[in-house]
Amino acid sequence: MTLDRIRHPALHGKVMTATDAARFIQDGMTVGMSGFTRAGDCKAVPAALAQRAESEPLRITLITGASLGHDTDKILADADVLARRLPFQVDRTLRRKINAGEVMFIDQHLSETAEQLRGHHLAPVDVAIIEATCITEDGGLIPTTSVGNSAQFVQQARHIIIEINESVPTSFEGMHDIYNLEERPHRQPVPLTAADQRIGQPHIQLDLDRVAAIVFTREPDSPSNVLPPDAETRAIAAHINRFLAQEVKAGRMPDTLYPLQAGIGTIANAVLHGFEESDFHGLTMYSEVLQDSAIALLDSGKLAFASAASMTLSGDVYQRVIDNMEFYKSRIALRPQEISNLPEIVRRLGIIALNTALEFDIYGNVNSTHVNGTHMMNGIGGSGDFARNAHLSIFVSKSIAKHGDISSVVPMVPHMDHNEHDVDILVTEIGLADLRGLAPRERAIRIIDNCAHPDYREELRDYFNRACQYAGGQTPHLLDEAFSWHTRYLKTQSMKPARAHRPVREAEAALMD
Ligand code: COA
Repeated sequence: MTLDRIRHPALHGKVMTATDAARFIQDGMTVGMSGFTRAGDCKAVPAALAQRAESEPLRITLITGASLGHDTDKILADADVLARRLPFQVDRTLRRKINAGEVMFIDQHLSETAEQLRGHHLAPVDVAIIEATCITEDGGLIPTTSVGNSAQFVQQARHIIIEINESVPTSFEGMHDIYNLEERPHRQPVPLTAADQRIGQPHIQLDLDRVAAIVFTREPDSPSNVLPPDAETRAIAAHINRFLAQEVKAGRMPDTLYPLQAGIGTIANAVLHGFEESDFHGLTMYSEVLQDSAIALLDSGKLAFASAASMTLSGDVYQRVIDNMEFYKSRIALRPQEISNLPEIVRRLGIIALNTALEFDIYGNVNSTHVNGTHMMNGIGGSGDFARNAHLSIFVSKSIAKHGDISSVVPMVPHMDHNEHDVDILVTEIGLADLRGLAPRERAIRIIDNCAHPDYREELRDYFNRACQYAGGQTPHLLDEAFSWHTRYLKTQSMKPARAHRPVREAEAALMD
């Protein structure tokens, strides 16, 4: 531990152990914690909290930027500390508790959490726990690999606990751009007109009187766990590259494109890797998360600048970033998530939004979150912030899941995160459906022809034709059949016809995994 990282001497006396710091958190409190898709999360205090819960009642509302690393959500869920959780998660144990109704999960647009705290829609944050690389002479907190909602938590919390992570180099100072939205009704337009612009401060300003504790840690972020591109995700990327090249040729976009946003996970990462093979250059990103693919594009020179709320990297790529910090610092800005995802900016910049669907229906409504319509996967994340306001809203998915037993193109989605009005382009490895300017009946034909897997295409055509014939309407559906693919999956573990039935209760239990 070195006090050099606390450059404001008045704070030296606040250093203590994680166990002592965790005592500021009481049963029933709301805790705002840094951390966004495994990046910049707190490592020591949450573990101490879980330990304390073994001997006393301790249930909290936990608000973060997004998902956490280090199994923190698992540890807290196992210790029964989480009464309420928002706005996003990806943990298997927590997911099981959410789907069993034991943890109340609020699945929220990621740009909205800070706004709802500011507007007092949510209970105020009692304690903020924020990871930092250091604290400046003027009491400025320098975050680590994510900003997330930390600025808002620090503004609101009665007590602030800071985890200084000595494994993160202090050279991160200068990478962040912290801009705080003003209170309404006097709020001004956010003065950002290009992805590479910096509009705020490089630190989060602390009110020193509210700093309750400082804890030192040395554990790096959990490395990213996305899988490398495969044949299907490469095919999806190739369809998108071809489509964007046509857009440029048609004069609808410059050859540097408009700023790119790419969602989380394996598919989005692979799609972005696909730009390495393209002829595009001078690209920019105005996104929520930077994965390995963004760093590869910066290295190749294809990408000129990347803006996001967090960096979620594999171990090797993270090492490359910290070894060449000056190069990356001039090309990356990490911002609060309400700015990285702000609808006002998404619309102004004309973002090309690339997000992943679990499934979509023949009219282009998208389910990103609920397996079989009922069971939470991860959450909507920022996909809605971008999709509704983008210049081009693109959703990608493999055409089938679970070894072909699930079709990602279904008659009707049983849960809808993004409706047909927010979806311009759908892409699977089979092909790309450009839905712009099409009415629902036209969209259906294009989606089935271009995106559905051959194993399911004829059955979808048959459903659509019968819906047009017997039900009619602007958006024809056979209501007693619309979810039959999902109920068939529950009964037989496959959307394909003619499999042995299994009890539905047993099938519902299997969705919990
Ligand atoms: N029904 C049930 N399970 C499905 C499915 C479906 N229709 N489609 C995919 N899956 C399963 C896959 O089989 C896989 O399961 P496994 O881990 O047990 O193998 C899992 O979902 C993840 O799918 P994968 O194909 O690996 O894609 P991914 O890692 O790119 O994740 C999402 C896809 C949709 C889960 C993920 O992108 C997500 O959570 N999106 C919502 C949030 C979001 O868009 N955030 C970005 C905002 S900036």
